[in-house]
Amino acid sequence: MLAIRGRCCVERGYGAAGQRVAPMSAPPRGRFITLEGGEGAGKSTNLKVIEKLLRSRAVPYISTREPGGTDLAESLRSLLLNPSSEIVPLSELLMVFAARFDHVEKVIVPALREGKWVICDRFVDASFAYQGGGRELPWSKIEALERWLPRLARPDLVLLLDVAPGRGLTRATRNRKADRFEQERAAFYQRVRKAYLRRARGSSRYRVINAGRSRRAVATDVSAAVGGLIDRFGGGR
Ligand SMILES: Nc1ncnc2c1ncn2[C@@H]1O[C@H](COP(=O)(O)OP(=O)(O)O)[C@@H](O)[C@H]1O
Ligand SMILES: [Mg+2]
Repeated sequence: MLAIRGRCCVERGYGAAGQRVAPMSAPPRGRFITLEGGEGAGKSTNLKVIEKLLRSRAVPYISTREPGGTDLAESLRSLLLNPSSEIVPLSELLMVFAARFDHVEKVIVPALREGKWVICDRFVDASFAYQGGGRELPWSKIEALERWLPRLARPDLVLLLDVAPGRGLTRATRNRKADRFEQERAAFYQRVRKAYLRRARGSSRYRVINAGRSRRAVATDVSAAVGGLIDRFGGGR
């Protein structure tokens, strides 16, 4: 009898006295951290810094990237980055979001529901920066697509690694050929940077980090921001 009542309470999410209780079977949801910034800003480098920190604090996590993270999204990524692809801006926006919805539904949301933290190298802010700023598509079109994302896929923390575009590009293309985006002109990258900063303005979910400094200085700021989130929401279960 008690067991039946107990199960009933858990399913409905109410305690014996009618107060709201968390279902016993569901772990606390994981937290969602995204890394943003232009090419060569240090996203991949600092993703490793975050992974190390989460491991040291026994926080379960997955790391992933955009566009990408699923077979479909990685195929779209190849098309998007291939310098010989001819893609009009609106198609580019829809391709990026097609990849994103697949990634969110198959990878990001399930991991967060399981209580894993998700670190993602680029997410929705990149669409505002590249397709909004870079390609000059109307902000409202991107906002409309953003509204289709589930609430759970709203980042808890966005680390915006901000660096002068020329400096980042030199770092990024030192040892390889430039992709379709990296072949864009300087003005494109100035607009990307401006759009990123516009997104970050006035929101406490964003940390704008000066990524023009040494690796160590950037990593210290990244670790402090992520450490704050771990302190707030708890580490390993
Ligand atoms: N703060 C930094 N100062 C100098 N070089 C850096 C810094 N951060 C990263 N790098 C180097 O710049 C290159 C691009 O870094 P990466 O992390 O791959 O950037 P992103 O993923 O943002 O394109 C790499 O060779 C990396 O070692
Ligand atoms: Mg990278």
